Amino acid sequence: MDYLDYKHEPINKEVEEKKEKFVAPFILKKRHFILPIIATSLLYLAYLHSTAMVLLVITTYLMIYINRHTIKKSIWYKKLNLWFLYRDVQKMSKNLNQVQLLLTKKLLEIPIGKEESEVKSFMDLIDYFGMKYPFMNMIKDTKEERIWVQGTHMRCISSYSYLSLTEDVRVQNFALESAKKYSTGNHGPRMLCGNLCILEDLEKDIAKFFDREGALVFSSGYLACMSAIAGYVQKGDFLIMDKLCHNSLKAGVRLSLAGSAHYFKHNNFEEAERIIAKKKKKNQRLIMIIEGVYSMDGDIGHLDKARKLCDKYGGTLILDEAHSLGTIGKTGRGTEEYYDFKHKADIIVGTFSKSIASVGGYIACSNDLRTYYTLYAPGLVFSAPLSAYNTGAAIKSFSIINQEPEKVLKLQENSTYLRNKFREHKFNIGNSETCVIPVIFNDPLQTINLHYFMKKKGFFTAAVMAPACPILEPRFRITPNCTQTRQDLDDIINVFIEARDACPPHPKFKEIKEVLGL
Ligand SMILES: Cc1ncc(COP(=O)(O)O)c(C=O)c1O
Repeated sequence: MDYLDYKHEPINKEVEEKKEKFVAPFILKKRHFILPIIATSLLYLAYLHSTAMVLLVITTYLMIYINRHTIKKSIWYKKLNLWFLYRDVQKMSKNLNQVQLLLTKKLLEIPIGKEESEVKSFMDLIDYFGMKYPFMNMIKDTKEERIWVQGTHMRCISSYSYLSLTEDVRVQNFALESAKKYSTGNHGPRMLCGNLCILEDLEKDIAKFFDREGALVFSSGYLACMSAIAGYVQKGDFLIMDKLCHNSLKAGVRLSLAGSAHYFKHNNFEEAERIIAKKKKKNQRLIMIIEGVYSMDGDIGHLDKARKLCDKYGGTLILDEAHSLGTIGKTGRGTEEYYDFKHKADIIVGTFSKSIASVGGYIACSNDLRTYYTLYAPGLVFSAPLSAYNTGAAIKSFSIINQEPEKVLKLQENSTYLRNKFREHKFNIGNSETCVIPVIFNDPLQTINLHYFMKKKGFFTAAVMAPACPILEPRFRITPNCTQTRQDLDDIINVFIEARDACPPHPKFKEIKEVLGL
């Protein structure tokens, strides 16, 4: 989850401001009425004193009447309309997530109760959508290229299994063998009696893969990312991170003794430097957090600039490689390889739930830090590690990536082809430069309809909406893999073209778009 942290931030002044900022474009402020009120009062006063003014007023009203169609089309008229429509939404919403829920209810003309809770707003929408609800689809038989989604055989075009390793029988067999050998659970956290030797085997593979001294694994990427920050950061440290960093990294910040971070605009290292120069005290330790491939936008973090800044100000650089491992760099070693290994991060974090066909996460770092984390990473000390089954799947996935780098190249080739095709057909895919291809629309309701339409055509792609992305930039994240053929990729483009023609934007959202100048 990236962008604004709509949901989890406490309701304080800052959140109020963000809420205002989102709804503000729809809203006519009181001050906007001052001029018309003064003008009308003046006219009224004049009317009291002169009959000529009566004529003026009548003429003015006539002019307005004659031009009513033009006025209706004017931006101010639309703003006024939207003001009436959204005034109560803004008042009632306790956080930005509820703004979205209530807005959607308004547009769908679902009644909104007085002081309605967020859960109620959410449940009303679920009831409304029924079978069209776009999330939590029941999926079966994921071992094949086509999967079963709620009883229909479909092509999954949003899978994170970039290298198709979830379908690889070698991975499945090794996972099963590992489970047979070490059983399905572990006896608690690693500090107590859960430190299975297969976990350390995997850690050696990860350290080697990233050319680091050591690595530590966790039962999820979320825990690994969160722990890397929460365990490392001390009170008084100066944290700065890209605004689009993943929620797990932000959770680490909140859990850390520093408690909060400074955010810079996505990939804007000039702004990052301005913030550091202005706000960091001399004796404060600097920690910068960025991602390799950004999961909602598919562009690449500027590791080179981040490293230079950290070197200049003596900082530690934490890099999340969740979507970069196996996807960028000639052999899939991620962002450092993408930059020809000229720049290095101090701490690498990531997950096994994308290119690596498993579940779990890792920190790759120096030996000293590894030892330190064994005592201070909350997700390791207070939580059990991943099972032998998942560990085995991860070990086999790493070994296949090492032995078959051609998979990475094929993925990159497919991604370039698909990105070019989307752009050629005038879809908005932002600044995507990787296998994460966001196809961005401006209307959440249209997005749900598109999702449903494509599902009917046999293509399963999850709709991504706020709070995971800005409210008026809902999207589908299309993710090619290394086994798709040209025909498969063309089929994706064709279904998108068909869906776009069949599902126009909601007229009200069209208006919002116009008013906002989107
Ligand atoms: C950038 C990023 N970091 C961390 C994670 C967390 O990974 P996991 O699913 O293993 O918890 C994700 C998952 O989507 C992610 O996209």
